[in-house]
Amino acid sequence: MSKETWKPGNMLYPLPVVCVSCKRPGEKPNIITIAWAGTICSNPPMVSISITKQRYSHDIIWETKEFVINLVNKDLIYPCDYCGVKSGRDVDKFKEMNLTPLKSKNIEAPGIKESPVNIECKVKQIIELGSHDMFIAEVVGVTVENEYMDENNKFSLNETGLVTYSHGEYFTLGEKIGKFGYSVRKNKGKLVAYVDGSYNVATKEFSYGMVLIGDLGTEQFSKKFNDESLSSMRNVAGEIKGAEAAISYAYDNGYKELEIYYDYEGIAKWPLSQWKANKEGTKAYKAYYDKLKDKIKIKFNKVIAHTGDKYNEMADKLAKDELGIK
Ligand SMILES: Cc1cc2nc3c(=O)[nH]c(=O)nc-3n(C[C@H](O)[C@H](O)[C@H](O)COP(=O)(O)O)c2cc1C
Repeated sequence: MSKETWKPGNMLYPLPVVCVSCKRPGEKPNIITIAWAGTICSNPPMVSISITKQRYSHDIIWETKEFVINLVNKDLIYPCDYCGVKSGRDVDKFKEMNLTPLKSKNIEAPGIKESPVNIECKVKQIIELGSHDMFIAEVVGVTVENEYMDENNKFSLNETGLVTYSHGEYFTLGEKIGKFGYSVRKNKGKLVAYVDGSYNVATKEFSYGMVLIGDLGTEQFSKKFNDESLSSMRNVAGEIKGAEAAISYAYDNGYKELEIYYDYEGIAKWPLSQWKANKEGTKAYKAYYDKLKDKIKIKFNKVIAHTGDKYNEMADKLAKDELGIK
């Protein structure tokens, strides 16, 4: 391997790219695109953004001592780029890009409604570094888009399609390749999963029930979905989601082997290519299996439904309870 030495410059990538909104009292709000942004303290939660003095937003933030960092996802990257090449001196960026000011809870500067996460900040210190002034600010409020909250009130930030900036180009996040601390996590043995699905004809909701037997003993999970593109598969859609959840759990928790007990034959036949996956849901299931099959050894075991298999009955009840079906 040979290396080349360059003169000093900014090569720290990838970076977040964010839309920072700000406002002077009595004036229109403005948005500036910022890549020189970072988290700098957890307690109190603090962030920094660096802005050159020439920017219209620089003076607004300097004077008002507040701004909102709006995270940028795929849907917002076009306006974000626009806000990074046009100045609020010349255009109303909210108007031009059809963005909606979102009233903040703790400061006067509005956020951007279309962003999945709005981080309200109050400036504590400004350091004049050279080309850029660094605004060090405390986070005083965070607003998140409800669409990405699951029923356990967990926010799926990585499902929002966040964008990163690297060496002049924008990218969405790629494949998940690990998890905090996974390098020191002990490899676990085998996880046994019982999955079943249910369907509510009245609401068109479907669900899975899942019983896992692994290092932590027996654990029970269930989740319901309301997805028109999959609901035509009724309870099978739920059972597929259950099998995906079992694979995901096994992978996230460092299991090397997973044995899935199921009662609908497609659960094994689609991933093992014994049936052709034609529908969106079955194709996605097979693709998910293919992605992880070399990382975890997955074995499928068919259970005949309603024959008194304890854990299969348990998974069936969990799925039904999730939909309020007796
Ligand atoms: C991807 C991207 C990242 C940027 N990052 C910064 C930054 O970190 N700091 C900065 O001062 N300007 C940055 N800019 C430039 C400003 O966003 C740009 O000059 C903008 O038009 C300023 O708007 P304003 O005059 O309304 O404040 C960036 C632009 C883009 C496209």
